[in-house]
Amino acid sequence: MSDQHTAPTPAAVLPRHPADGFTADPLGVLDEGHRRHGPVFRMPVDGEETVLVGTWAGLGELFAAERSRLEVLNTPLVHDLFGHALFNLAADGHGEARRRLRPALSGRALPGYVPSLLDVIGPATDRWALHGTADLHGQVRELTGAMSARVLLGIIPGEADAARFAAAFEEFVAATGAPPGPARYADRRYWAGRSARRDLHDLFARRAAGGAPGGTALAGLVAVFADAPAEAGPLEDHLLALLIAARETTASLLTWCLVELAGHREHAELAAAEARTVAADPDRLVARDGLPVLRSVLAECLRLHAPNLLSMREAVCPLTLAGHRIEAGTRVAYSPSAGHFDPEAFPRPRRFWPGRFLAGQASASRLWAFGGGAHACLGRPLAELMALGVMACALQRGLPSLPAGPPDRISFRPAKAPIDPLPFALESVS
Ligand code: HEM
Repeated sequence: MSDQHTAPTPAAVLPRHPADGFTADPLGVLDEGHRRHGPVFRMPVDGEETVLVGTWAGLGELFAAERSRLEVLNTPLVHDLFGHALFNLAADGHGEARRRLRPALSGRALPGYVPSLLDVIGPATDRWALHGTADLHGQVRELTGAMSARVLLGIIPGEADAARFAAAFEEFVAATGAPPGPARYADRRYWAGRSARRDLHDLFARRAAGGAPGGTALAGLVAVFADAPAEAGPLEDHLLALLIAARETTASLLTWCLVELAGHREHAELAAAEARTVAADPDRLVARDGLPVLRSVLAECLRLHAPNLLSMREAVCPLTLAGHRIEAGTRVAYSPSAGHFDPEAFPRPRRFWPGRFLAGQASASRLWAFGGGAHACLGRPLAELMALGVMACALQRGLPSLPAGPPDRISFRPAKAPIDPLPFALESVS
């Protein structure tokens, strides 16, 4: 039968939305698409036809339907570089690896990480208070890398492994920018990244054998992976994945928290008063109901500036979403924040207004910034602790300010961030 006589599949009649303007304002395009077409529509993403899923209800339906019907769509490059890391695994191996990784990243593990995190954060925020910085996002990325290395691997800033780790990690990160398909083999970054991956695996194994210092996840992870089945993947692959998953996302969130506080002095002053209580009682950083003002700033920044733009899936068998049949083999993407600007859930959605989460006008449970379903973020408690720790330490030293004004140009991938260096300072208040 010729193509023109083939009955259209229901997926083919999904409404199609133009991708015009997506690079400059992806959230605006997605928002408009969902306003016009509802939770599901088609649109080209990176030149490939993709089914976009959004709105709070749409994501709820996606996550409920995803197990055994959708798989994370990773490029051959990501498979090569990350091996059997969590987000490259499917089915049983994935569930097994999550079960084994979760305790080290859960809320219960956090109190043990507070002192070592504060040791890393203190000197960095002292420097911001004394000298400011010409590049807020660059500094925050470095700090996030140091915090993750401290908590996950026990690497203390200044020790010999800190420089070795940072150099190899940068090579590895650079390799993620190589072409995703066969052209990767002709790219120098790819081979340097493969070599950096081997060096990092050696470093992880050496530190695991040497007995990690206190306040680190490594010893517990080594113990739970000692008898893990092969399908759960090697711990070295998971450690590298955790370090990568932590870095751009947490650095993005922190950058926008500090940018918004710099632009809203009254919120910064309120938050600073609360931050000062952390100096006397650091456990407030992990107390369930502790630090409501700082937590409301965090929630509002996750709403307005969700770090991840899109998460990709591929349908491995047919499924139905919002009444539309999606065929096996279809590329599906969701945007964690394509529901964060719904005026019914968040009145005056473009406004920075952390108080909406304090007064009960809005609920943080309506935010999908950490994803949901089978691949929901495992690092959420640690990410929130790192963000609260940095905000608290920074605000104890001064009020954030942007001497050259807020960022003009923004990139949205790999995570939302200013494109140009952004001068930042902490102004002391007497
Ligand atoms: C503000 C910071 C963070 C944000 C916004 C964030 C967001 C997300 C999102 C949206 C996903 C789901 C991706 C998908 O659906 O394909 C995810 C997955 C993941 N995140 Fe995070 N993340 C953050 C920090 C962290 C940290 C600190 C860690 C680890 C220390 C981490 C580890 C992971 C892992 C391992 C996955 C994959 C889970 C799986 O495939 O089962 N994340 N994250």
